[in-house]
Amino acid sequence: MKVNNKHYRSIWYEKDSNTVKIIDQRELPYAFKVIDLDSLEDFRIAIKDMAVRGAPLIGATAAFGIAKQMQKDCTDEALYNAWEVLNATRPTAINLRWALNRCKDYLLQVSTTDRAKKAMELALAISDEDVEINRKIGEFGVDIISKISLKKKGDPVNILTHCNAGWLATVDWGTATSPMYQAYDKGIPVKIWVDETRPRNQGALTSWELNSHGIDHEYIVDNTGGFLMQTGRVDMVIVGTDRTTAKGDVCNKIGTYLKALAAKDNEVPFYVALPSPTIDWTVYDGLKEIPIEKRNEEEVSYIKGNDKNNQINSVKVTPEGTFGFNPAFDITPSSLITGLITENGVCNPNIQKLEDLFPSK
Ligand code: MRU
Repeated sequence: MKVNNKHYRSIWYEKDSNTVKIIDQRELPYAFKVIDLDSLEDFRIAIKDMAVRGAPLIGATAAFGIAKQMQKDCTDEALYNAWEVLNATRPTAINLRWALNRCKDYLLQVSTTDRAKKAMELALAISDEDVEINRKIGEFGVDIISKISLKKKGDPVNILTHCNAGWLATVDWGTATSPMYQAYDKGIPVKIWVDETRPRNQGALTSWELNSHGIDHEYIVDNTGGFLMQTGRVDMVIVGTDRTTAKGDVCNKIGTYLKALAAKDNEVPFYVALPSPTIDWTVYDGLKEIPIEKRNEEEVSYIKGNDKNNQINSVKVTPEGTFGFNPAFDITPSSLITGLITENGVCNPNIQKLEDLFPSK
């Protein structure tokens, strides 16, 4: 997507300088900084500290991490070690393990002479695939938006989204935002309600993206969505996912479940934009089987922002002696979901329908 009229992906490889570059999301939305990742430790920290974040982007970053490591040491031992180090960074988004397994399984079949080259080719292929998957999700999603738009006779379609499932969370397009971008580009009027998404305020990333694209939106605190739905101001919800089970339970950013409950109560369609690498076919019941990341309590007891001197600062919002509790994700049961928008089409969230869309899973 474009930033100041220049097209960026959230991660890319510059062949001439042999560098992997990312947009440092710890600095956004205040500053736009591009940094290089080189060592395995650079990649580990980037994922763990959320310089990169969002399930698909975490997967792509891990693939580049393996590729850069193979340039330094292409032994089986180094490959297994890189897998372990990167896999331990964040536990919930399945794209991480999906990408790492794909790299490991493929590279173990490749001679050590070719490994570094092949590893980079694979990382680039994973990135390109992600872009294409998200573009297709957008095409299917825009059909849903345009049907609502027809019913509204051209009035803006009001879409609520939670967290950042935008291009910053993927390699490009985003998952939940891809239908929004494509609707806007086709001239279908949309208005986006952007959930703040405490504690890390990923909503500010979504706002930053929507600003860059010129899409009408308003930023709301996480408690506002239910009221907006009760008063008829939300036509649909679209969120992303960090891991979706074989039966269509969706693990996504903490707070997603509450939005789905409110949507069900108010008969607002609730869609999940789901790239296939985010499906974990090995798990069925999301609540019982998906590990939920617990992050530092300081993300809850402090709020980060840009101060009047244009410095990024944190201030404490809780009294001394009070500590935050910080699970990063929750589970939305498939019964609350209207549809899963995948790159192969839209389906009801159930095992049969998902398997029909991905017969060779
Ligand atoms: O903790 P984060 O910021 O990595 O969580 C991101 C989300 O929960 C996104 O909604 C999800 O990964 C979908 S991204 C296309």
